[in-house]
Amino acid sequence: MRLDRYVSQATGTPRTQTTRWIRGGLVQVGSVVVKDASAQVAIGRDRVRLRGAELDPPGHLVLMLHKPAGVVTSTDTSIGPTVMDCIPADLRRRDLAPIGRLDKDTTGLLLLTTDGGLNHALTHPRRHVEKAYVAVLDGALCADAEARFATGLALGDGTLCQPATLQRLAADQVRIVLREGKFHQVKRMVAACGAAVVALHRERIGDLWLDPTLLPGRARRIDGDELAALGVGRPLEEEAA
Ligand code: URA
Repeated sequence: MRLDRYVSQATGTPRTQTTRWIRGGLVQVGSVVVKDASAQVAIGRDRVRLRGAELDPPGHLVLMLHKPAGVVTSTDTSIGPTVMDCIPADLRRRDLAPIGRLDKDTTGLLLLTTDGGLNHALTHPRRHVEKAYVAVLDGALCADAEARFATGLALGDGTLCQPATLQRLAADQVRIVLREGKFHQVKRMVAACGAAVVALHRERIGDLWLDPTLLPGRARRIDGDELAALGVGRPLEEEAA
């Protein structure tokens, strides 16, 4: 791959700019400053540095964020603190976007990626990727809440939900597993059963659990087995049937 393209893709910066960096002597391949933007570099073999800092090889980035409360799931950083503010500088890319959204007060597992295809696959309504939440409640759920979740309950405005799982963990705590992602869905399902959500935390997407060692507000890269745990390589359920 050409050096200007490598630096452009690795940093999410237009090639006009990366060419200027290269010509200005800011880019090294191995220990050698290379000023020729058309020089060839091998992904995975050559180590490319910008201003002395080694660049991650180009390729899509998938991040796990432990979303803290109080930040909005948006790429528009002009609206106040957003999840993008939690991403360390070395993992920021222009095309990085959250996969789905969590409410401002919701904590827990949020994925972000530069891979539009992965984003689409994980949010595709027919893929039915499981999302597990733990909710702290105010008020008592109706006695048949589990059954109503299991058969697919109707929200206050009549919207029908797909079957979901409700598990009571304590008098005021439940685990809810959804296979779709409607706006404020957990809060609206709980409200339809007579209680209110006072705290909400997402612990799992597909078979991928939030890393218990990742502190709120911290993000890290995922790949390999963790990426596979999302199950996007599997066919849609109706294709598999
Ligand atoms: N359901 C909600 O109500 N809020 C979230 O943030 C996620 C799911």
